[in-house]
Amino acid sequence: MIRPFTIDDYDAVLALWQTSEGVGLSDADSRESIAGYLARNPGHSFVAEIDGALVGAVLCGHDGRRGYIHHLAVHPDYRRQGIGQNLVTYCLAALREAGIQKCHLFVFGENGNGRAFWQDIGWTERVELVLMSKSTK
Ligand SMILES: CC(C)(COP(=O)(O)OP(=O)(O)OC[C@H]1O[C@@H](n2cnc3c(N)ncnc32)[C@H](O)[C@@H]1OP(=O)(O)O)[C@@H](O)C(=O)NCCC(=O)NCCS
Repeated sequence: MIRPFTIDDYDAVLALWQTSEGVGLSDADSRESIAGYLARNPGHSFVAEIDGALVGAVLCGHDGRRGYIHHLAVHPDYRRQGIGQNLVTYCLAALREAGIQKCHLFVFGENGNGRAFWQDIGWTERVELVLMSKSTK
């Protein structure tokens, strides 16, 4: 079952992310930060449950122009069953409903499985772009 991610899911989702290769966690993933993100983007982030156990999660939101997906993860015991793709489908539907026409995401270059997943479900690698970052401090 796919359902919206609420802050009550935080502990289970964090445990999943912490054991998911390819998910990079930072201070932006504190309970407070995730609560803020979910409040700013209601109904865009989702979890997958099987028999009451949380087996997948994804963050999704938009800035009014473009959508962004972060931290998609599926528990290793439940991979290759379409759960990851299903979570992404829910995110894209929520963005479409909000009037957002394109979504971006970030993948570590060394995450070969993750890159294969995104390409296989129809995403395009933007090889012409380089990500740049700076602290606001
Ligand atoms: C990437 C991830 C979310 C995929 O979840 P999943 O539920 O197994 O994916 P799906 O079953 O929906 O896969 C859909 C298709 O993607 C492709 N795919 C999925 N995992 C793949 C892998 N490890 N290698 C190559 N292709 C893969 C396949 O084409 C698959 O279809 P198929 O099973 O019929 O061949 C999961 O492997 C994961 O949690 N990885 C660790 C975290 C991570 O890297 N997240 C991405 C961060 S950007």
